[in-house]
Amino acid sequence: MGFNVFVTREIPQAGLDIVYANCDPVEMNPDDQVLSREALLAGVRGRDGVLCLLTDRIDDEVFAAAGPQCKVFANYAVGFNNVDLDAATKHGKLVTNTPGVLTDATADHTWTLLMATARRISEADAYMRTGAWGGWGPMQFLGGDVTGRTLGIIGAGRIGTAVAQRSAGFDMKVLYHDQRRNEELERKLGAMQVSKEELLAESDFVSLHVDLNESTRHLISTAELKRMKPTAYLINTSRGPVIDETALVQALQENQIAGAGLDVFEDEPKAKDGLFACKNTVLVPHIASATHWTRSQMAILAANNLVAALKGEKPPNLVNPDVWAG
Ligand code: GLV
Ligand code: GLV
Repeated sequence: MGFNVFVTREIPQAGLDIVYANCDPVEMNPDDQVLSREALLAGVRGRDGVLCLLTDRIDDEVFAAAGPQCKVFANYAVGFNNVDLDAATKHGKLVTNTPGVLTDATADHTWTLLMATARRISEADAYMRTGAWGGWGPMQFLGGDVTGRTLGIIGAGRIGTAVAQRSAGFDMKVLYHDQRRNEELERKLGAMQVSKEELLAESDFVSLHVDLNESTRHLISTAELKRMKPTAYLINTSRGPVIDETALVQALQENQIAGAGLDVFEDEPKAKDGLFACKNTVLVPHIASATHWTRSQMAILAANNLVAALKGEKPPNLVNPDVWAG
């Protein structure tokens, strides 16, 4: 006991129970909204540990504000691009994430977006609700085919692999682009590792599963969109800035590609000008991991990581192991 912690926003109870059972005092942002920069800097001051979210920018200034006694920032997300890891390591802070438990929910959601985009579900649903439908028609809401087509996975880690595996039910050809070979995908699905250029040119669905870092920012921009088939769809459940969203809006407006299914955006919570007017899109507000079970599991993982670090144990999901070794 005696661990003084700060929780930047309410998370599911299963995780809070662990935090409250092991820490005291616990202060939590009382409002269900992202903390202002000032409130974040004030909130972390003097704490032993912080449970933070992907919407909190955790950088040098935050680590300095927390103070030298602060051991850990447990991020409630698998992605940790919101945390400046070099600064964390410099300040000797442990940083953790929540891998694994959101792989299936994210892969399921990727397929939801893929199918909804190909079959124009948002557009058709909105139309139905206008009451204007006059009955079945041979030319209404024609979309793209999925079965037998080619799926291109960029980033074949846990989530990319889970997305690819789900394509088996649709008899798809799978291409993937990753720095590393994924023998599991090759063996199970006959997937082929190809260059980014080849993947873009040949895929009917391009799905992004890389993490966001300087080498993946704007991985998909004007040149990449031009390489895609005019009948192809782009799906993104990774991080918004992996796509140059302004270039995407232009490609969608000019029908350079058939459509896009987006769970993430470059400047969340905003979308680039023109995107909302593009009918060939399905747009949802960063909800890939948003299932009851998954969000509870993420809360448990984040809380266990926090508590382990506070107790002087190596947290299970440490993303900057250099700090532990050194
Ligand atoms: C969600 O985007 C996550 O990284 O967990
Ligand atoms: C993310 O967790 C990934 O490895 O795909």
